[in-house]
Amino acid sequence: MTNTIYQYKMPTELIFGRGAAEQVGKIAASLGAQTAMVVTDPGVTKAGLLQGIIASLEAAKINYIVFDQVESDPSTQLVMNVTEIAKTNNCNLIIGVGGGSALDASKAIAAMVTNPGDISEYAGIGKLKNPTLPVIAIPTTAGTGSEATYWSVLTNKQTKLKAGVGSWYLMPTVALADPLLTLSLPASLTASTGMDALTHAIESYVCTATQPISEAMSEKAIALIGRSLRKAVVNGRDIQAREDMLYASMIAALAFNVTRLGLAHAFVVPAAAYFPIPHGIGNAILLPHVMEFNYLACPEKFAKIAELMGEDIRGLSVLEAAQKSVTAVKSLMKDIGIIKGLRQFGVTENDLPHLAEEAAKTGNVPVNPRVANVQDIINIAQKALDGIA
Ligand SMILES: [Fe+2]
Repeated sequence: MTNTIYQYKMPTELIFGRGAAEQVGKIAASLGAQTAMVVTDPGVTKAGLLQGIIASLEAAKINYIVFDQVESDPSTQLVMNVTEIAKTNNCNLIIGVGGGSALDASKAIAAMVTNPGDISEYAGIGKLKNPTLPVIAIPTTAGTGSEATYWSVLTNKQTKLKAGVGSWYLMPTVALADPLLTLSLPASLTASTGMDALTHAIESYVCTATQPISEAMSEKAIALIGRSLRKAVVNGRDIQAREDMLYASMIAALAFNVTRLGLAHAFVVPAAAYFPIPHGIGNAILLPHVMEFNYLACPEKFAKIAELMGEDIRGLSVLEAAQKSVTAVKSLMKDIGIIKGLRQFGVTENDLPHLAEEAAKTGNVPVNPRVANVQDIINIAQKALDGIA
């Protein structure tokens, strides 16, 4: 019998619950903040989500400036420009508020205040030289999990390459996860970001780098998403469903942060530099096809996914039960309105060889449970062109 030693590292302080975001001023003060930079996107400002956060900073007498122009799929250029603003204003704390784009940008800005050169130079894992400014990450979507990961995914608009910067220095100092901030998220974004969280949980769960601690978090996340994503999409005011989804998103991130992911993310992340594919939708479109390709590698795991998502697997063989996990994901996607394929974003058969080559270079392929080459990725993407309708 072999003995394996597992390591689980998690340096971020996690604060979760309704109203948690109101603690931001007190936490900023405890981190020694004199001037904080709030980094967010126009949608967050428009939805009024900054009001409580600003009031809390003012009550704690923290000076602040607000940058609310983070774009979706933020660019390395934006990060460098905003870093200059942070330096000019002597900011010593970054508060990211928003979805994955705002949080990833916040973490990168905090890094570039204290590291020389351009953020593009740090693409890869473990390349940042210095600790970043402290970061408080406040998610307003339940999907990316960026509040609890060491990744910042950016796009270099000149080279059209995704710059995934991974470093333990990029773990936020504090994650403030407040389900009240997700109540106004529109149904379509609730659906797409929720599917991103599900893809994180499933890809981490079945990948070859999985381990008991991450597995436990993946299982809980899959069950919560199976129970609550439909409810959150059809009734955004359902606070229990929102809380389930935000919690699921956070713990799915805690799982994949130590394992990496699989073929869905391998394909979607680089492809988004060439086509306007929203991250969560792209993952959702790929996910059932990737699962169909993968389930023979670890059918017991896929049978468990089916069970966690509410499928009745009694009396089925392991392989039959494993196939039910694909049925469960497709049925969820139909219910929440994600039925079209990659073609809706302009992807055609001719693009697949190039996109598959890019995918094959990512670190998410070596951990995929079934060994996959470029042709395998092309075949999976081919099936994803036309959706599940
Ligand atoms: Fe993702």
